[in-house]
Amino acid sequence: MSLVTPYGGRLVDRTVSGVTAASLRDAARHLPRLPLSGVEEADLRLIACGAYSPLEGFMDRETYACVLSRMTLPSGLPWTVPVVLRVDPARARRLAPGDRVSLCAAGPGPTGDGREDSRRGTGTGALGVLEVRDVFPADPLAEARAVYGTESPQHPAVARLLASPGWCVGGPVRVWATPLLPPWALTPAETRAYFETMGWSRVVGFQTRNPVHRAHEHLQKCALEMVDGLLLHPLVGPTREEDLPAEIRWRACEILVHHYYPPDRVLLSGFAAAMRYAGPREAVFHAVVRRNFGCSHFVVGRDHAGVGSFYGPLDAQRIFDRLDPALLGVEVLRFGAASYCRRCRSMVTDKSCPHPPAIRVSLSGTELRRRLREGRGLPSELARPEVAAFLLRLAQKRA
Ligand code: ADX
Repeated sequence: MSLVTPYGGRLVDRTVSGVTAASLRDAARHLPRLPLSGVEEADLRLIACGAYSPLEGFMDRETYACVLSRMTLPSGLPWTVPVVLRVDPARARRLAPGDRVSLCAAGPGPTGDGREDSRRGTGTGALGVLEVRDVFPADPLAEARAVYGTESPQHPAVARLLASPGWCVGGPVRVWATPLLPPWALTPAETRAYFETMGWSRVVGFQTRNPVHRAHEHLQKCALEMVDGLLLHPLVGPTREEDLPAEIRWRACEILVHHYYPPDRVLLSGFAAAMRYAGPREAVFHAVVRRNFGCSHFVVGRDHAGVGSFYGPLDAQRIFDRLDPALLGVEVLRFGAASYCRRCRSMVTDKSCPHPPAIRVSLSGTELRRRLREGRGLPSELARPEVAAFLLRLAQKRA
């Protein structure tokens, strides 16, 4: 058995190196400079390494419209979130198909600080070039409704969207940035090579943006029982302010794996994308992108990629019922709300435990963050002691 094929059939590579990179970089000095937001920079880097295959650049008008209205690329392949490069109207007026622009960094390096990002780069470090194919107006309200299911500015991504410049520039990119990804994030080619070395063909991907807790571990281990290996893939790109910094998320996973997982069954690597908080649509995006990293399976639990109460607990699972599984090519493993049952003395869901909610400890990233903010410890029902000690130490330092 071999690994699942990349989405769209082949892994895109839009990186350039050596002489090609040097001459492109040279030419870019004379091109108009386009400063990227943190989210756009994260997208650029992931397009370049093939994580967003089959995308070869930022979306054009037709692709943007298809994604919004049909949840597909023009080819018919499911794709649920726009990957666009936004520009203000004045800049849009100066750009035309056939132009090339130099894409400039939002921050000093590929890691960012794991924070939500509305600032734009100063244009100091050029990362690559975009060949302009299309310049078009976005439709922020339609986009908010379609992608996030709400126009409410209480939704962090909708607030950002409504404040963003109203035009987009689409076209293929070429990227010379090195390092391309933060040190703890592997490219799809690298994760695939690792899985092949390990002899894995069935691999489950697990996304998280929170410090890893017992419900995460339960889902990961249930899933792992069915496949050859686990790609533990915490998001390490920009997030909103309330989420803990990327490095902490990553380190918490590292501690968990070190103490509680057989090393030859897990690969821990960062997923360098920005968090979109798009709930159901982001769950689909997360699944297909993980296919590019070599995952044949993907976990979707309760309120995947949700924020506040914008989505129902199982919305992110139900959206898959509207998509053709053969086109997705990645099997979604669905889990209900997991909690710790004091009577069973184990992690459970409604499927496996008859006891009332009153004797169960429910688990969520929100609860974990609240306890840490208040300087309270994390009981072993919520987090493993080694992880809890690490998180509490950090919380006390930050207070
Ligand atoms: S996020 O990226 O989906 O926002 P989060 O850390 O909250 O990250 O969740 C990671 C994965 O675990 C998601 O698939 C989510 O649905 C699932 N999950 C988190 N907590 C629970 C829980 N208590 N029960 C079931 N699934 C959960």
